[in-house]
Amino acid sequence: MNKQLQEMLDNAKNKISEITDANEFKKLEEIRIQFLGKKGPIQEVMQQMRTLTNEQRKEMGQYVNTIKTEISALVDAKKAELEIKIVEEKIASESIDITLPGRIMPKYTGFHPLNQIVRDIEDFFSTMGYQTIQGPEVELDYYNFEAVNIPKNHPARDMQDTFYISPEQLLRTHTSGVQARTLEKADVNNFPIKFISPGKVYRRDDDDATHSHQFMQIEGMYIGENISMAQLRGTLQAFVDHLFGEGRKIRMRPSYFPFVEPGVEVDVSCAKCGGSGCNICKGPGYIEILGAGLVHPQLLEIAGIDSAKYSGFAFGMGPDRVAMLKYGVEDIRNFYTNDLNFLKQFNR
Ligand code: FA5
Repeated sequence: MNKQLQEMLDNAKNKISEITDANEFKKLEEIRIQFLGKKGPIQEVMQQMRTLTNEQRKEMGQYVNTIKTEISALVDAKKAELEIKIVEEKIASESIDITLPGRIMPKYTGFHPLNQIVRDIEDFFSTMGYQTIQGPEVELDYYNFEAVNIPKNHPARDMQDTFYISPEQLLRTHTSGVQARTLEKADVNNFPIKFISPGKVYRRDDDDATHSHQFMQIEGMYIGENISMAQLRGTLQAFVDHLFGEGRKIRMRPSYFPFVEPGVEVDVSCAKCGGSGCNICKGPGYIEILGAGLVHPQLLEIAGIDSAKYSGFAFGMGPDRVAMLKYGVEDIRNFYTNDLNFLKQFNR
């Protein structure tokens, strides 16, 4: 029996030592069951021990236990070895190779074309002495409409279909509210008042090639002595010459805005067809870029400015349309779809 147990131990040792692969856990468990399980050789030896004397049985029992403990310890040691191996293999496979080259980042890092246009326009007007002022996008009905001569139920409200947040709060439909906010705070002993105000505006317009429900506007205002339509026209022509280069024509058409008198809409000749008509300008050869006019005397009087002595002009331009004209962009929606292939063309 001793010999049989010794052979069993040697056999188990050999089998356990043959296991080297971290994935052989299952095989190890099979070996444990083979030698130490209920149907294994140890049980056979136990059966045979019935024929021994009490003294021999006691001695043999101790020997059987030693063999069982030894095989069990061998299995546990191998198990621990395999577990360490698994962790080591995982660490090796996940280790960071610091000698690898870095990831190539997307190359496009330029300003959005609309921001480029707005900055360009800001630079132009700043050289002409205009200050840049910001106004809120979430605006009060009062500043967006009432303070610029558009009281409740005035038909001019229909010209700008509005996103209301509450009866008194809305997403501004134009930047003209900044006129009212600025005049309210203006130092009426210190002229001229000269500012531009760029920002986003919102309208419930149906999106198409030249209309977006969110777009940019730049408000402009100049109040001083003897300011007339001639200065407005001169300023706008200088602006168009700066932005598009000399040779582009501007056209003023009579229009109506309750906060100016007279009011005009200003068009610039189309870059693509030069005025003969194409798919960008949709035929007429000109694209409307802004509304403008002489500040309504009522706005001046409300602000405490003597309208007999002072006058001014104001304009509200659409940089989206300006950018379309400058870059020959056929669809305004391109500015808002974040297509990198489109945007990277404007990378400076
Ligand atoms: C106004 O918003 C007036 N507040 C402008 C103004 C200011 C007039 C000061 C007089 C004095 P209008 O709705 O026409 O006007 O818009 C001005 C410009 O914004 C347009 O000429 C056009 O360039 C641009 N614009 C208007 N609606 C859209 C739109 N849905 N998508 C893109 N651009 C637009």
